[in-house]
Order: sequence, then structure tokens, then C-alpha cells
Amino acid sequence: MMAEIGKDLNKVIQILNKDELVAIPTETVYGLAANALNSNAVKKIFDVKERPTFNPLIIHTDDLIKIEYFVEEVPEIAKKLIEKFSPGALTYVFKKKKIIPDIVTGGKKSVAVRIPNHELTLKLLSMLDYPLAAPSANPFGFISPTNPYHVEEQLGNKLSYILDGGECNIGLESTIISFLNETPELLRFGGVSVESIENIIGKIKVKVNILNELPDAPGQLKSHYAPNHKLIVGNIDDLINKSNFDTERIGILSFNKEFSSIPIKNQRKLSNHSNLEEAASNLFRVMRELDKLDIDIIFAENFPDIEIGKAINDRLKRAST
Ligand code: TXA
Ligand code: MG
Repeated sequence: MMAEIGKDLNKVIQILNKDELVAIPTETVYGLAANALNSNAVKKIFDVKERPTFNPLIIHTDDLIKIEYFVEEVPEIAKKLIEKFSPGALTYVFKKKKIIPDIVTGGKKSVAVRIPNHELTLKLLSMLDYPLAAPSANPFGFISPTNPYHVEEQLGNKLSYILDGGECNIGLESTIISFLNETPELLRFGGVSVESIENIIGKIKVKVNILNELPDAPGQLKSHYAPNHKLIVGNIDDLINKSNFDTERIGILSFNKEFSSIPIKNQRKLSNHSNLEEAASNLFRVMRELDKLDIDIIFAENFPDIEIGKAINDRLKRAST
């Protein structure tokens, strides 16, 4: 049986109320959702994704007031960010209340919360009397889905319903910021830029791990977002010049350039207008497309390391071998 793709909220609620999983759209990526207050339901997320249980999940709700049911305290400085960026692509880590089961947080005393900015999902969340735990709706370690067909392709045989909210606007995951220590700490680059956060609350600590075995945000393990083809990040001209691969066997992922020595069908530009937001929204879809080509290697370029470009570079680094 393959998952049905549709827009029926009542059906979604019925499934969730039976402690089963549903894929839901957000503005970042599609999530694999379950009742966050029910350990049985949440356990199924880990099974379906084949995700290690030490890797905690983000809970999703539609309202600041509701966040306060789940966490001990929302510091003033976090409230400023919530006011500015929620609903939106910013996830906050706070000390959790007992009501959040340990399985959601991988045994941690903290919980990550987000108010996603997607009309259909906000409506769904407002109709539920529990928050939704939802990691990205992909098998552990693979590229996150940015439309319902990506979910269907990878998890369609393990789900009964995918809520269709179209293409994700932002196209890569939320930024994660922790308020467990005095100075706010950025744990993952994502849809909300460091610059725009610092504009509101001043300097924060960037604690994004690349190689750490036991990072603060364990989803940040390096080998992540992995395409099947080998991917190398660098100066594409140099990579082509030094490469032993036949040019027919090389795929290109660039910001805005074309490379005359490589067949056009093997090349993907993320933004014709050199717009980083547009590039981010195309990144995961394009990685999937390149992965389907009959090639041996993908060369990707370094993006400008500013704003959402930092998140693009982070995902490319993790996808590289
Ligand atoms: O954009 C997003 O955030 C998407 C959509 C579906 O909301 N969700 C998502 O979830 O990316 P996931 O599970 O793929 O990534 C969640 C990240 C992981 O890196 C996890 O380690 C971190 O959040 N995380 C969750 N709870 C945490 C906590 N208490 N402390 C630190 N990191 C936490
Ligand atoms: Mg993920």
C-alpha cells in the first residue's frame, strides 16, 4: 500500500488520533509527524526513519501560549525572537516540562520547539489538542523532502497519508537556537540567518558541529543529507581540471554559472538571479535530480558564506564525502 497524497485535514486528525504517523508540509521541509505527547506514536517515527533514538525531535505547535505548556521557562530574549520570527524557520531549545515524553528528547532535559509557517499545518495544529513531534520526513541520513512526492518516493510504503501543502518555500530546515545557557547558542544553520537573529538580540554563540560524534544537536552528524553519488565541494573549474572522470560522468551544482566542458544535462544552477534564498529553496530538489543522473560524481561550489548561504554551505559540506 502506498500513501495517499491529499489535503483532507479530518483524515489527518483521525490518523494522528490513532497514534499513527502522517507527513505534513512546513515552509522548511516536510515533516514526519506524530502526537508528541504519546510515546507509542513517537516511537513509530524512529522506526520508520530508522533514526537512532538518542537523536531528539522538534515539537511543533501553532501558538506561543502553547509553547509555555511544554517548557519550564521562555526567557525574555527568546520572546523577542519568537515575536519576530515565529511562525517561521526558527526552532528554540528550552528546558522541558515533564509532559514531554523522554523519547521525544532522546532522554535530554531540554526540548526543541517550533511554530511552522505553513497555512495548512498551522490550521491542523490549531485543531489538535497536542503538539506534533516531527523530524524531516526522510530516512535517517538522506536528503530532506521539499514536496509530497519526495516523501512518497522514500517513505510512501510506510505511511498512509501525506498532507499536500505543495513545494516548501524555504526548502531547507529551520535554524536551531538554544537558550539553556546564559548566551544563546546557534546549534544548526537554517532558514533564519544568524545576521537577522543578531539584529534583534545582539551577538550569539555559533556552536555548529561538523565532525563531533556527540554534538549538541545530534542530527548534525557529519554524514547527513547524503546523495548516493559522491559529492565534492570546491572551485568547480579546479575540480573539473584536476578530475580523472570523463566529463560525461560529472554532474555540476552551481549557484549561477555554466561550465562549457560539461554536458548541459548534467548541470544544475540553483538561482539564475544569484539569489541565495532562491538557491536554498532549490537545493534539496536539485540534489535529488543530480542523484538520479547516470554520472559518477557531483561537483558543487562554495556559496557566499552569508545569510542563508551559510545553511547551504553547511548542507553541502555534510553531503560531501
Ligand atoms: O525545519 C525543520 O526543523 C524540520 C521541519 C519538519 O520542522 N524538522 C527537522 O527535524 O529538521 P530533524 O529531526 O530532521 O532535525 C531536528 C534537529 C536535530 O539535529 C536534533 O538533534 C535537534 O533538532 N534537536 C532536537 N531536540 C533538541 C534538543 N533538545 N537539544 C538540541 N538539539 C535538538
Ligand atoms: Mg532531518
